[in-house]
Amino acid sequence: MATPAVSESPVGGLDDLQKLVALCKRRGFVFASAELYGGFANTYDYGPLGTLFKNNVRDAWIRSNVQLRDDMEIIDAALITSPRVWVASGHVEAFNDPLVQCLGECKNRYRADQIDTTKCPNCGGSLSEPRMFNTMFKTQVGPVADEENIAYLPPETAQGIFVNFANVAGTMRRRLPFGIAQVRKSFRNEITPGNFVFRTLEFEQMEIEYFCEPGTDEQWFDYWVNEREAWYKRLGIRETNLRRYEHAQDKLSHYSKRTIDIEYRFPFGDGWGELEGIANRSKGPAGSSWDLNQHEQHSGQRLTVFDEDRKQHVRPAVVEPAAGLTRAALTFLIDAYEEQTLDAQTNDTRTVLHLHPALAPYKFCVLPLYRNKPDLVKMARGIYEDLRRRWMLTYDSGSNIGKLYRRQDEIGTPYCVTVDFQSLDDRQVTVRDRDSMQQERIAIDDLRAWFEDKLNV
Ligand code: GAP
Repeated sequence: MATPAVSESPVGGLDDLQKLVALCKRRGFVFASAELYGGFANTYDYGPLGTLFKNNVRDAWIRSNVQLRDDMEIIDAALITSPRVWVASGHVEAFNDPLVQCLGECKNRYRADQIDTTKCPNCGGSLSEPRMFNTMFKTQVGPVADEENIAYLPPETAQGIFVNFANVAGTMRRRLPFGIAQVRKSFRNEITPGNFVFRTLEFEQMEIEYFCEPGTDEQWFDYWVNEREAWYKRLGIRETNLRRYEHAQDKLSHYSKRTIDIEYRFPFGDGWGELEGIANRSKGPAGSSWDLNQHEQHSGQRLTVFDEDRKQHVRPAVVEPAAGLTRAALTFLIDAYEEQTLDAQTNDTRTVLHLHPALAPYKFCVLPLYRNKPDLVKMARGIYEDLRRRWMLTYDSGSNIGKLYRRQDEIGTPYCVTVDFQSLDDRQVTVRDRDSMQQERIAIDDLRAWFEDKLNV
């Protein structure tokens, strides 16, 4: 099988989100929610490949931040919990966005802090005075809807960590510094959701609260900004598409001493947008955690660790790297997307997702060269059945091997394993690399070790 020449076009280059939206629907990554009923605005369902892919992003985050570290625990706190949590955290009073509405023709709503005009950007009508709008979703617990039974859907995962601080520190016998990680759904009644899954009402977050001695928080803050930026790069995001944005002191959240966003150059709006925020939430007394102090005040329980050397209780400072799982997944897809011209004369092109192997939905695809040759099918199925016990794979067959390869390129499968007639004689298969399209012959008995080496990241 000949290897086609690859054009010089740079990797990436997605300048139009609609192409990715179309690919996501066509290949089962993301569907509009409730499409049967005409859809539900800015709400999405993850399809078979999207679910595998999103889980891989989550797993890569857990691996890097929990599995490979000595100083981290992970929890999974309930979504619906005591409303007192949200009173103590300040969300009931202050999780507000300034809302303005067009008083002209279109009646569109905007966040006042996201537009710099006094006229409606859509129809030019005049705008209402801003009013504060609490973006927490409310629900009720039990059959009676009254003030006593209000509960909130969580707008961040962080509070589930703060209220479990003493449980985790005690049961896991932790001393400072240590972190608690959590991956969970969050909900915000956003005034301006949009740009596909960039900003949605329901999304997933991957958050860490890293507890440390007051006074060491500034070093830990720098450490986590570097660490988190490096994570995106290790998983393939190009450096030129990342930058840091430091929040001005007078714009910081009430709990934050310092906040830096890791931003990505998105193909919409002004380009740069927040990918992850790292905040030093140590604005409590004596440079300790603002949130732990609030929960101490409201619950009457001590939220400290006991320092055996100094024989005193310490309320830690805390640094919070807060990433969006669904937003990170979108970012990896945007950065990986490429339309490549393989041969300009014959107009031979392919769409390829250069996803990092750790994130790709399928690690490789096993293919018989011809689907109507029972010996080839039997051998290919045998390889597939053996290796699927170790990795998430796929199997495909058809009459045009080139088309089958393109199908896998488009969903980011890093390798294809093809069984041909020669395989029946020499027990070797052709392994084709998604990015270089180079092919090499590997003995079937060596495949597991070969992939172990390539996919062990
Ligand atoms: N606990 C702090 C916190 O929640 P945030 O900056 O509001 O901080 C952290 O959110 C990350 O969550 C953001 O950087 C973004 O990736 C993601 N995120 C926030 N709101 C989102 C939304 N409406 N849709 C999708 N992702 C969102």
